[in-house]
Amino acid sequence: MPEPTATSSSPPPVLVVGGAGYIGAHCCRLLAASGFRPVVYDNLTTGHADFVRWGPLIEGDIRDRAAAARALRDSGAEAVIHFAASAEVGESMIDPHKYYDNNVAGTLSLLGAMRDEGVNTIVFSSTCSLYGNAGGAPISEATPPAPVNPYGRTKWMIEQILSDFSQAHGFSAIALRYFNACGADLDGRIGEWHEPETHLIPRAMLALLGHVSDFTIFGNDYDTPDGTAIRDYIHVDDLARAHLSALRRLRGGHKGGAFNLGTGHGYSVRQVVEAIEAETGRRLPGITGPRRPGDPAVLIADAALARAELGFSPECSDLNTIIRTAWRWHLRHHGDIGGN
Ligand SMILES: NC(=O)c1ccc[n+]([C@@H]2O[C@H](COP(=O)([O-])OP(=O)(O)OC[C@H]3O[C@@H](n4cnc5c(N)ncnc54)[C@H](O)[C@@H]3O)[C@@H](O)[C@H]2O)c1
Repeated sequence: MPEPTATSSSPPPVLVVGGAGYIGAHCCRLLAASGFRPVVYDNLTTGHADFVRWGPLIEGDIRDRAAAARALRDSGAEAVIHFAASAEVGESMIDPHKYYDNNVAGTLSLLGAMRDEGVNTIVFSSTCSLYGNAGGAPISEATPPAPVNPYGRTKWMIEQILSDFSQAHGFSAIALRYFNACGADLDGRIGEWHEPETHLIPRAMLALLGHVSDFTIFGNDYDTPDGTAIRDYIHVDDLARAHLSALRRLRGGHKGGAFNLGTGHGYSVRQVVEAIEAETGRRLPGITGPRRPGDPAVLIADAALARAELGFSPECSDLNTIIRTAWRWHLRHHGDIGGN
């Protein structure tokens, strides 16, 4: 089936659920530049109204099925990109109810609203967390999911729900399993902004700028060359491009599925810290703490399937670009109040 084409007079509306957050906002920017009309649906719990710049914001919660259905109806959306979730692994261990409620029950409610309105195309934010401790080799989608924390379990449950909805209700769904999202928009207008911030690169930068007092490397006794954990870092603009191609593939009749998004290359925490110090000319405190429970030694993507089926090819996920763009955003947004 050929992909419906956008006309300049009527860009196809897409409901970007969670579009006021870090990755969703970058996706909206690309959607708008690519002939779509992003309409954000977000409850602003962790998102920012200031990030909604490329289309309207409808404030609402995915657990409110009637409100989500109304947003679909009012926006005229013919597809959903679903970023909304609670997404802190550590928090999910101590408050699993919040995760099953917001992520699983919330998504079920959103899918119900989609059925109510006859919208059955969805791109979903999944995660490499669903692989658990999968070992050191690049992980392909053939690796059976075995999440080791409630956050990862919610994402795996949602993927299975999407697969059932595809079978039973004719949904077209693509789940994108991101590895470590990072970096900021090349113009420096939007970037990674979580409160609290637990991710390595923004946390290091907040420490360098004096916004947080502690910065710790968790674990230096892993079985890796320098003892610190190795991750696959993927620039948020490359993630946005993958969402655009997933959306286009689904509109063109793709049957859907799950795809890893990473570079296939890992960097250790120590290497990332050294690259941040080189870019900023500042020193981070060399504090190391114990490993965090549930943190695997190595997580690297085999993204061959996304390359083959979605045409996914990272363009700006080299470590220098990631750190340069992230630093520019943090300097501009948070400001330097005197760190290291
Ligand atoms: N950041 C990463 O490294 C990473 C890695 C893998 C997967 N993911 C997934 O990507 C998605 C986006 O992550 P992010 O880093 O942009 O997070 P984020 O917190 O910046 O964005 C999430 C957005 O969803 C909104 N939201 C949350 N619950 C909602 C609800 N019940 N109703 C309506 N809106 C709601 C928030 O207000 C926020 O704007 C999440 O689903 C996350 O699990 C992120």
